[in-house]
Amino acid sequence: MKTKPYKQDNSALGYNVGVTLDRFIKSHQSHFAYATGELSQLLRDIALAAKIVSREISRAGLSQVTGAYGNVNIQGEEQQKLDVVADIRFTRALTKGGEVCAVVSEEEDEVIDLHNSKGKYVVAIDPLDGSSNIDVNVSIGTIFSIYRRITPTGSPIQAEDILQKGTDQVAAGYVLYGSSTMLVYTTGMGVNGFTYERSLGEFFLSHSQMKTPQVGNIYTINEGLHRELDENIHSYLLQCKERGYTARYIGSLVADFHRNLLKGGIYLYPATKKNPQGKIRLLYEANALAFIAEQSGGLATDGKKRILDIVPSELHQRTPFYIGSESMVKDVSSFYLDL
Ligand code: AHG
Ligand code: MN
Ligand code: MN
Repeated sequence: MKTKPYKQDNSALGYNVGVTLDRFIKSHQSHFAYATGELSQLLRDIALAAKIVSREISRAGLSQVTGAYGNVNIQGEEQQKLDVVADIRFTRALTKGGEVCAVVSEEEDEVIDLHNSKGKYVVAIDPLDGSSNIDVNVSIGTIFSIYRRITPTGSPIQAEDILQKGTDQVAAGYVLYGSSTMLVYTTGMGVNGFTYERSLGEFFLSHSQMKTPQVGNIYTINEGLHRELDENIHSYLLQCKERGYTARYIGSLVADFHRNLLKGGIYLYPATKKNPQGKIRLLYEANALAFIAEQSGGLATDGKKRILDIVPSELHQRTPFYIGSESMVKDVSSFYLDL
């Protein structure tokens, strides 16, 4: 029979959706330090939970999942119904997958032991970031960090399995539920972003090997905290204004970080008089984004130290947080180093 070789022709399609997250994870599996397939499966479990949460969010106004849940979490913050829904969805996906032995969640006081005797991984997660934006239809997110457990599988979880430095992360990422839903992650070999195609139920690679600009002109801070901030930050903010930078603040860390990653900018949540350790949580907010920032060419510090080098001593530990374009993060740090 007469045949002709297949030649890809996209001219009639208008656009090309590209490689799926599943295929991308599989084709990069051999690059992982411990390539047994479990980390790949774990990333797929997270992606599945993200799809479910994305669905819950997109119909939130219709399905009575907006509003307060009627409980205050360990942070002293009022839980929203969607905080709890997202916490359940992600924890359930991680339990069923079997690769994870323990989860640290913003919404849970203690470490959750998943009783997966073969689970080699520990996950720290902010199931829903930007809760104050849920009820007003503004972008929100999920942030996750993945660590290998240190003690032998099957034995009781120990503090050393949980309180690991950011440099020990084997993978980290976030999901942004925005004008489209995106999953962005790193395993330490660059950062890749995937956009969710709802009608196909798949994430597709849309942002390959993301790099953040070395300098940006966006500064992102809750300036309502002005009287709560120290003089170094006042000086830095003045410098931003003198340089004609643009102020942008959504109040969802994931959304603010993602914009600055693409466009160039800095996100600041400094120590305040009321919260001398700032607001952002090291284990399930700062570390994951710091890993991604560094992998894309940016920086993340607490003003003095690299975020990824901080040795945690508590589950819900907070840290002052400066993250984004390299030169901007260095500018803030220079005000602290001048002391
Ligand atoms: P979460 O909703 O997970 O508690 O996180 C909220 C965080 C972060 O997303 C955001 O950047 C910051 O809190 C906003 O804080 P302010 O309201 O103090 O500006
Ligand atoms: Mn958060
Ligand atoms: Mn949260």
